Amino acid sequence: MEFLSGNFLCETIVPKGELIVSRTDLKGNITYANETFALISGYEVDELIGRSHNIVRHPDMPKVIFKELWEDLKSKGSWSGIVKNLRKDEGFYWVFAEISGVFKDGKLVEYKSVRTPISFDEKLKYQLLYDELKKQNNEPIRKVVYQ
Ligand SMILES: Cc1cc2nc3c(=O)[nH]c(=O)nc-3n(C[C@H](O)[C@H](O)[C@H](O)COP(=O)(O)O)c2cc1C
Repeated sequence: MEFLSGNFLCETIVPKGELIVSRTDLKGNITYANETFALISGYEVDELIGRSHNIVRHPDMPKVIFKELWEDLKSKGSWSGIVKNLRKDEGFYWVFAEISGVFKDGKLVEYKSVRTPISFDEKLKYQLLYDELKKQNNEPIRKVVYQ
């Protein structure tokens, strides 16, 4: 029999009014994480600091989105978009993310990101869109557990 099982089916809802905030160095290594980021992702703040931000990369996210994210950060200085993120327990949470530069004496020193909740309709729309993008690029879509 074929069925899906595991925490990867469990969504954590980002409460309205909550902001998930992080900063990274210019390579995407986390230098700051707020308490909400830790709570929603299932990590301790200390576990997040120093790790690559791809620690919360969800396998449902198409590669091309992160390619665009880094290209836009380098060319325009900012990026915003909808991201499905992976929790430590393999559950997931959806956010609208805005990323931009942090400047010191006019010099780009870090990136910062603020994330807010999105609606159920947006989650459905983006899950289908991201599946389609993965299909177009021959990336595997969702894992199925055979038991
Ligand atoms: C400030 C900032 C915040 C980021 N936030 C996320 C995030 O919430 N989720 C995510 O998957 N990638 C995020 N990224 C992109 C990651 O650095 C990484 O490029 C992405 O997870 C894909 O992993 P990969 O580059 O190892 O393929 C962020 C990058 C920056 C600079």
